[in-house]
Amino acid sequence: MRALLIDGYAPVPSAHLGTAADVRPGPGEVRIRVEAAALNPLDAKLAHGDMTGWFPLAFPYVPGTDFAGVVDALGEAVTDLRLGDAVLGRSDPVAGGALAEAIIVPARCVTRRPEGLDGSIAACLPTPAGIAYQALFDHLRVPEGAVLLILGAGGAVGRAAIQLAPAGVEVVACAGQPRGTDPASPARWVRPDEPDFLRVAAKADCVLDCAGGEIQHRVIAAMHPRAKLAAIVAPADEAAVVARGIDAAFLVLETRRDTLAAIADAAARGVLHPEAPAVFGFEESAATYRDYVAGRTIGKLVMTTGGGR
Ligand SMILES: NC(=O)c1ccc[n+]([C@@H]2O[C@H](COP(=O)([O-])OP(=O)(O)OC[C@H]3O[C@@H](n4cnc5c(N)ncnc54)[C@H](OP(=O)(O)O)[C@@H]3O)[C@@H](O)[C@H]2O)c1
Repeated sequence: MRALLIDGYAPVPSAHLGTAADVRPGPGEVRIRVEAAALNPLDAKLAHGDMTGWFPLAFPYVPGTDFAGVVDALGEAVTDLRLGDAVLGRSDPVAGGALAEAIIVPARCVTRRPEGLDGSIAACLPTPAGIAYQALFDHLRVPEGAVLLILGAGGAVGRAAIQLAPAGVEVVACAGQPRGTDPASPARWVRPDEPDFLRVAAKADCVLDCAGGEIQHRVIAAMHPRAKLAAIVAPADEAAVVARGIDAAFLVLETRRDTLAAIADAAARGVLHPEAPAVFGFEESAATYRDYVAGRTIGKLVMTTGGGR
């Protein structure tokens, strides 16, 4: 099976096309013929060696966690998927493997793809919409009438969070520039350098922080004591959190079928609509991956293999 491979951590890894072992899925696993695989900031952090505490890699490593494709082999005891099912899913970051012709993952890491959901769009969902979903519904549990402030709202996670926010929640999106809202998912956009910004932050009942860094510190210092924070880039400073009396957590996406199914359904209903990705072919994947990891690209990138259902 052909795959993109990297041989070690580096600011720009020497990615190359090669051959990965063409194995059969084990018990509880499925093999997916990859139709589309999306790049995420995590792929760059993994390649740089920034995530070794969470996700130590073994080399050669096939990058990519988020994919859409078709089930082409079933391991023992997999009864809830069938050969030929169109799916989307996410592999464990330690395993990677999506930038390849095929990937083997536990069956719980995929869900069926609703009819009409294009593979290249479906591949954009698992990590960004997955963490947005778990932050909003598992951790923050944003109640009706609450003010939800999203920091770093111009990226894929922020966009998904704006679109997934429950009705009756007032969404305030903070970013350099407004991006990705529509009348069906209204948000009030604020810039972090606006004079009024900290007064806005002080009114937030829930904060989803997709930015980290200095803005996180400024916002925590302004938050009211009953407010909740879900940080996904960097944990909040413990002393600052205790001093403000806020409920803060650092979240790491847990790949689960229920979350994947919920976001696939939201996409099928038109609630979730990721930014249209720039698409590249498998043959271009080494150069495109290197550019992405080096920070030389803007916006969502998706590899397509040309296969489809
Ligand atoms: N803890 C977890 O499990 C978890 C899961 C997913 C993601 N994350 C992290 O969350 C952070 C955000 O992830 P993400 O997927 O939202 O990142 P992203 O889509 O790459 O966006 C990052 C930033 O890039 C800029 N940008 C994005 N799309 C753009 C476009 N079309 N044109 C111009 N600029 C654009 C925006 O910055 P400006 O607004 O400043 O222009 C945006 O805030 C990353 O650090 C990621 O690693 C963590």
